[in-house]
Amino acid sequence: MVVLLSKRRRFVLLVLAAFSLRLCFGEDRITFSTPIKDSETLLCKSGIFRFGFFTPVNSTTRLRYVGIWYDKIPIQTVVWVANKDTPINDTSGVISISDDGNLVVTDGRNRLVWSTNVTVPVAPNDTCAQLMDTGNLRLQDNRNKGEILWESFKHPYNSMLPRMNLRTDPRTGENLTLTSWRSYVDPSTGSYTVGLVSFPFPELLVWKNNVPKWRSGPWNGQVFIGLPEMDTLLNIDGFNLLNDNQGTVTLTYANDSFMYHFNLDPDGVIYQRDWSTSMNAWRIGARFPSTFCDAYSRCGPYGSCHTRGDPPCKCVKGFVPRNNTEWNARNWTNGCVRRAPLRCERQSNVSSNGGGGRGGKGDGFLKLQKMKVPVNAERSLANEQACPKVCLDNCSCTAYAYDRGIGCMLWSGSLVDMQSFLGSGTDLYVRLAHSELKSHSKRAIIITAPVVGVAFVAAVCVLLACQKFKRRPELEKDRSAELLFKRMEALTSGNESASNQVKLKELPLFDFQVLAASTDNFSLRNKLGQGGFGPVYKGKLQEGQEIAVKRLSRSSGQGLEELMNEVVVISKLQHRNLVKLLGCCIEGEERLLVYEYMPKKSLDAYLFDPSKQKILDWKTRFNIMEGICRGLLYLHRDSRLKIIHRDLKASNILLDENLNPKISDFGLARVFRANEDEANTRRVVGTYGYMSPEYAMEGLFSKKSDVFSLGVILLEIISGRRNSHKEENNLNLLAYAWKLWNEGEAASLADPIVFGECFAKEITKCVQTGLLCVQEVASDRPNVSTVIGMLTTENTNLPEPKQPAFIAKRGVSDAESSDQSSQKASVNDVSLTAVTGR
Ligand SMILES: *[C@@H]1O[C@H](CO)[C@@H](O)[C@H](O)[C@H]1NC(C)=O
Ligand SMILES: *[C@@H]1O[C@H](CO)[C@@H](O)[C@H](O)[C@H]1NC(C)=O
Ligand SMILES: *[C@@H]1O[C@H](CO)[C@@H](O)[C@H](O)[C@H]1NC(C)=O
Ligand SMILES: *[C@@H]1O[C@H](CO)[C@@H](O)[C@H](O)[C@H]1NC(C)=O
Ligand SMILES: *[C@@H]1O[C@H](CO)[C@@H](O)[C@H](O)[C@H]1NC(C)=O
Ligand SMILES: *[C@@H]1O[C@H](CO)[C@@H](O)[C@H](O)[C@H]1NC(C)=O
Ligand SMILES: *[C@@H]1O[C@H](CO)[C@@H](O)[C@H](O)[C@H]1NC(C)=O
Ligand SMILES: *[C@@H]1O[C@H](CO)[C@@H](O)[C@H](O)[C@H]1NC(C)=O
Ligand SMILES: *[C@@H]1O[C@H](CO)[C@@H](O)[C@H](O)[C@H]1NC(C)=O
Ligand SMILES: *[C@@H]1O[C@H](CO)[C@@H](O)[C@H](O)[C@H]1NC(C)=O
Repeated sequence: MVVLLSKRRRFVLLVLAAFSLRLCFGEDRITFSTPIKDSETLLCKSGIFRFGFFTPVNSTTRLRYVGIWYDKIPIQTVVWVANKDTPINDTSGVISISDDGNLVVTDGRNRLVWSTNVTVPVAPNDTCAQLMDTGNLRLQDNRNKGEILWESFKHPYNSMLPRMNLRTDPRTGENLTLTSWRSYVDPSTGSYTVGLVSFPFPELLVWKNNVPKWRSGPWNGQVFIGLPEMDTLLNIDGFNLLNDNQGTVTLTYANDSFMYHFNLDPDGVIYQRDWSTSMNAWRIGARFPSTFCDAYSRCGPYGSCHTRGDPPCKCVKGFVPRNNTEWNARNWTNGCVRRAPLRCERQSNVSSNGGGGRGGKGDGFLKLQKMKVPVNAERSLANEQACPKVCLDNCSCTAYAYDRGIGCMLWSGSLVDMQSFLGSGTDLYVRLAHSELKSHSKRAIIITAPVVGVAFVAAVCVLLACQKFKRRPELEKDRSAELLFKRMEALTSGNESASNQVKLKELPLFDFQVLAASTDNFSLRNKLGQGGFGPVYKGKLQEGQEIAVKRLSRSSGQGLEELMNEVVVISKLQHRNLVKLLGCCIEGEERLLVYEYMPKKSLDAYLFDPSKQKILDWKTRFNIMEGICRGLLYLHRDSRLKIIHRDLKASNILLDENLNPKISDFGLARVFRANEDEANTRRVVGTYGYMSPEYAMEGLFSKKSDVFSLGVILLEIISGRRNSHKEENNLNLLAYAWKLWNEGEAASLADPIVFGECFAKEITKCVQTGLLCVQEVASDRPNVSTVIGMLTTENTNLPEPKQPAFIAKRGVSDAESSDQSSQKASVNDVSLTAVTGR
């Protein structure tokens, strides 16, 4: 009877049945009366996923598994398996709703092979299993608008699809992890698992038979700090990590592209794959672990791994291989041991009172820059200045590190799984005996005294600053502290988590004398350029680190607020496409900002200089466009603070040694609370040629006004011409691009230096994207994540741009007509004098 019905469903019923029946017997569901056989499958409505019986390709057996795979692609890609360890050895299997209401798989002898195994509170003829468009298989109550009884997304196997979560919840015991297949042809349970741990910091781990094989490093609110490249991934792929600080952590993944997933492969590597229609194959976007050094504890305790090093493993200074024979034979598993015992260890052997004694010969810290921090960090509530002292005062503490998003991390016992990165990373301070520090004092070592010294100077600086402001609150001019506190309040209100709050004392403060010395007393030779609010100098700290110092002009009264704004805003941001603020200095009249030094200066210095233009080939330009978008997306998408830059322009894009772009100059940035979208200002600031019409005319700014500026920058990068310059027929760049677009000649906008027929399509797409960004009506403009999608995917169905706003042209003729525009003009004067950034 059952079999008969099912046959009819597929071959006859659709033709014969009444409409009411067709609703119940959709192609995407199984009900009590419509089981499916081995030869039948379910197809979700969108047609992307299929559910049914399969045999892995290339399998030497003929075992039948029940699972979900991508339909319509030539490569079998299974994303979920039900009976992974109980295959059926022939084609007699049936998937049905059983008498207890569960979805079950039975073999030819009606033996139970697999079951959803939940308690179903309704009659079996009221439950229904449905394959959703997301690839989620659901068992639901068919009556009350479908209460979900069971779903495959809560029982993941080896794949993480968009909208799926990984989670660990110690209270309910829920532990959503991915597990690998045994091999590429054998879907049975393999030995690798990837999941989240929540204590003390959320972190992603891969285990093999419960032994760690890889870790991501702790989550700092934005990224996993052990994955230097993850920030970009996170931004484009809809990743987020939710932490309720009670142990429940959820990694969400909300990409809307279904042809995209993460998979834990049988080799224990997590691959991110997306389907390339042009290549007709899966393209690997990211993989974890990806380098030799990523393997857990590659170099053993106190060993640090350097991907480009030979040998890759090195003992941290002050440590020696535990067994030289093994170490020299490139067996690093046993790691390194401390050469000179710590003072507190020696002391505690003498008197059990212990405690770090004072005096010149105490232990100190060795600073290791750009590190993947070791496993098993402990949380301390200490702030950045107190963090080293907390570590020093506890004899079992062997290292500390401080991350703004995490706070103070301490380690006790061996330091395991350290890696030294080339790009970003965390500064790790390893405790060493005084004698070790002294013997290496020529190298870049920070010993106890300077650490305490800097902390002391900073503390004094803060104290003095606070006292000063307390003593003279009536002074209009010195509103900085007040402003800063106000700004911080604005930043942190609506955010209950105290640990996220920016505290004044957490901002790195530099000594004015140090900065003056580093820039050779702000000598002209070291001047890099003139920013909107003051000159920028190159400096070199005593340890050799190069910095860029922006000294705010004493005369610019408005500079103070912008300074505070910038300090607070940037100190909270970390992204590879944003310039890093290292600290600030407020002493007397002096206000300085200290940034990382960018040897290549700013984008406009290349883009508009005929002798340098050719350094930026098309690939580089594309990379720069993408990077700017990613940096801007980071500013716009942050859930806690929305940041509108307000002054995006080519001279505010700095380039690092590899010509990667970094957005700088947040002096005008405006921080929005999560529920704010748009604001109005009477003081229009920004730069001519980059300002959106609604901002320039009405002072209205939003994310979409940044998108406008972004569009101008994109078109400038493509063409190598300034928007403010007049093209043929006295058209500015936007009007010129629009003209070419309408003539179907968009690709000819490209700088002839970079143009190549093979790029024509890509260039056209970029021009179109740029034009979409500069449309007159703000709501027509895409948001930044869409812009990234437009640039980076092969999808060619971009919307048709509407006419851009030719603001520059109009602005000139209207210049004197209102108060606003005259203010605008004065600011523009300042901005336009800006030379090459830093
Ligand atoms: C199956 O085998 C062929 C030939 O060896 C290989 O090219 C293909 O990648 C294999 N497919 C899978 C899914 O392993
Ligand atoms: C399938 O497995 C059953 C036992 O699980 C066995 O009795 C049967 O002979 C097998 N059939 C084939 C074709 O191997
Ligand atoms: C169903 O779940 C119970 C506990 O929840 C477990 O004891 C039992 O083995 C499970 N049965 C199957 C077939 O998985
Ligand atoms: C479901 O089964 C119950 C008894 O098993 C019956 O009373 C009810 O009418 C059935 N409902 C439907 C929709 O067939
Ligand atoms: C979650 O599963 C992983 C892998 O099996 C395990 O190591 C981890 O301890 C589990 N976490 C919890 C909270 O049960
Ligand atoms: C989804 O992933 C694709 C592939 O990387 C990416 O291009 C797209 O921007 C992502 N979409 C979202 C909403 O993050
Ligand atoms: C060092 O390792 C080698 C090889 O494992 C072993 O033979 C030797 O005894 C070890 N030496 C010491 C001092 O442990
Ligand atoms: C490395 O040394 C450890 C401990 O002595 C030993 O167990 C392991 O087999 C060695 N590994 C290799 C690859 O020789
Ligand atoms: C201190 O005592 C511990 C155990 O009593 C011992 O392991 C350690 O080597 C001693 N350290 C020194 C420097 O003597
Ligand atoms: C020192 O650190 C250890 C390990 O973190 C901790 O258990 C101990 O309580 C600390 N001691 C003091 C005095 O804080």
